[in-house]
Amino acid sequence: MTVSVHTDGPVAFVEIDNPPVNAASFAVRAGLMEALAQTEADAAVRAVVLLCAGRTFVAGADVREFGKPPAAPLLPDVVLALEGARKPWIAALHGTALGGGLEIALGCAYRVAVPEAKMGLPEVTLGLLPGAGGTVRLPRLVGPVAALNIMASGKPVGAARALELGLIDAVLEGDLRAAARAFALDIAEADKPVLLNARDVPAFDAEVLHQRIAAIRAKARGQNSPEAVCEAVVNATRMGAEEALAAERALFLRLKDDPQSRALRHIFFAERSVGKSLAAGEALPSEHIGVVGGGTMGAGIAAAALLAGFCVTMIERNAEAVAAGHARVVEVLGGGLKRGVLTEDAHARCLEAFSGSDEYGALASADLVIEAVFEYMDVKHAVFKALDAVVKPEAVLATNTSYLDVGMIAKAVRKPSRVIGLHFFSPAHIMKLLELVIPPGADPDAVATGAALGKRLGKVTVPSGVCDGFIGNRIMSAYRRACEYMIEDGALPAEVDQAMRGFGFPMGIFEMQDLAGLDISWAMRKRQAATRDPAQRYVDIADQLCEQGRFGRKTGRGWYLYDGKTAQVDPEVTALIEATSARKGITRVSMSGDAIMGRILDVMQAEGRAILAEGIAARAEDIDVVMVNGYGFPRWRGGPMFMASEGAEI
Ligand code: 3HC
Ligand code: NAI
Repeated sequence: MTVSVHTDGPVAFVEIDNPPVNAASFAVRAGLMEALAQTEADAAVRAVVLLCAGRTFVAGADVREFGKPPAAPLLPDVVLALEGARKPWIAALHGTALGGGLEIALGCAYRVAVPEAKMGLPEVTLGLLPGAGGTVRLPRLVGPVAALNIMASGKPVGAARALELGLIDAVLEGDLRAAARAFALDIAEADKPVLLNARDVPAFDAEVLHQRIAAIRAKARGQNSPEAVCEAVVNATRMGAEEALAAERALFLRLKDDPQSRALRHIFFAERSVGKSLAAGEALPSEHIGVVGGGTMGAGIAAAALLAGFCVTMIERNAEAVAAGHARVVEVLGGGLKRGVLTEDAHARCLEAFSGSDEYGALASADLVIEAVFEYMDVKHAVFKALDAVVKPEAVLATNTSYLDVGMIAKAVRKPSRVIGLHFFSPAHIMKLLELVIPPGADPDAVATGAALGKRLGKVTVPSGVCDGFIGNRIMSAYRRACEYMIEDGALPAEVDQAMRGFGFPMGIFEMQDLAGLDISWAMRKRQAATRDPAQRYVDIADQLCEQGRFGRKTGRGWYLYDGKTAQVDPEVTALIEATSARKGITRVSMSGDAIMGRILDVMQAEGRAILAEGIAARAEDIDVVMVNGYGFPRWRGGPMFMASEGAEI
């Protein structure tokens, strides 16, 4: 039975059991209606506790049903019916009460939760808005500003905060069933609270609400659902509940059919199914992580591992570099403490679990070592040789190389099958993406160990074969080259950047290069000059900029001119670009934003198809997951390969 009813004296327990996350699928909705009828009819029942089996309270509507015709009873009607119950229902929350799950709880007279429970309305992240009364009931319960923050961010709040907000009535320690029963007995004789629908929205500061709405609009970058959430909250403040519920329904149905929601649902499921085929190997238990290199990436990786509860030893070249690497990690952790994402205790634990050394012997007990030293094959070989001499025979060795051949790096050790690539993105403790690079002949257990690490770090881990740049950097190199061709052919950097922003990227490719610094890729191009295919078109504009000391933001000049943080178009750069086109005999032809973005997308998709054909990526959706999580591709467009499969226009 998906929904069962057990009575225990005057308290009835209605239990939902719909693994894995108790989504409110048809059987749950129908079961709740039956349970309602049964408990209303049973004269002995004075109060009803609604709870869930398994790991969580209802985590939302069943997203898999969204592509199908809706089957009654619909969730909004179920929530209305629960709200109309004569007996008090108490939603007893554990795990994650999300979306339609929280809306069910809002239909109950009371909500109680275990201290670890989380509650949220994440529909916006699926291109939707809460569609079962959440936009109407939550503002009436916690006020429109707090409700807007919850709905527009999509982020859950913890039980303590939910109690502060008035979202729940009590935090219950100990066994939830027993504690909820005691709570039910306490309130069974009391009058039922006024229905949320019958309440007015509590007093609020209209100016603050408008400021929040303006900020949400500014951040939406073309995504429709945040705007709909704002509209619904304004409706909740201006309309009676019935009218506001009807307006919510209309907005929900419109968004459900919006291609943006299809795209977001595609990414949601793609992220959850990525790498499932890697289950072949057995992950080795890992608690002690070694990181070699304490620069930008090494420090970020070390911080990520510490935050996930690992013990970390960092190796650097000498005592001075150890101190510098140590300081970087301490700074990242301190930032977490300052922002309140890390408690004092957790911060202290991280520091205690962290050590640095310039002796490889300190890695003798490490289960997994991640190398993040300079991007030169000979430096990597030296590091792996040194590691091979000291680490346990079963330890997994990983490289964070951006472009080098992981199989070649592996040749430095006696058992190359223990070497994998773990390609993190900067800042490594924040960015969600991790490419798990699998060289031919890699031990499945080493691969599984890398995948398990990714999971524990909370990363979206995408398997990739070995090629220059793996999945993401290879595609980025291809479209960056296309952008360089376009500026030589007639577009200007600001036009390319504007086209990318207009499409939904947080920034364009030239702004991004200015931010990262032009000197590093210049150094790489100089190294590669001897081996470059002379038949391939080469644009030297970036080299000319670097020769003038224009390394981007850090030097105040790059593709743009910087006044503090503001970028301005620099006529000198425009002149340099035009002169380059003239030198090469190219007649410049201007391009529209759509033509520019169309070209970028074509190149991404063509490179993606090549990557699939070569078996570098296992599935087209893996490429989408990489581009969305590592390269700023707008999530609500679903990724380049999804757009190609849908024949989607810009
Ligand atoms: N519908 C259908 N399937 C879902 C689902 C949902 N709402 N949420 C999760 N699943 C599935 C996943 O696809 C996965 O399936 P698989 O095992 O076959 O791959 C399985 O449940 C487990 O999910 P996770 O791997 O994500 O498990 P975690 O433990 O890491 O996370 C979670 C659990 C926090 C609940 C996370 O799954 C999640 O955030 N789910 C989505 C929550 C959500 O967006 N809810 C709102 C839905 S829209 C809605 O409710 C509309 C309403 O307003 C009308
Ligand atoms: P970085 O220059 O900031 O740091 C490299 C660190 O390695 C330095 O602190 C240096 O002292 C140390 N080091 C050099 N040789 C060493 C050795 N033999 N033993 C111990 N330590 C040694 O470089 P960054 O940016 O952290 O890059 C490191 C690696 O990560 C490179 O392979 C790079 O391609 C890759 N990477 C970089 C990304 C980025 O955005 N910066 C993103 C993803 C990967």
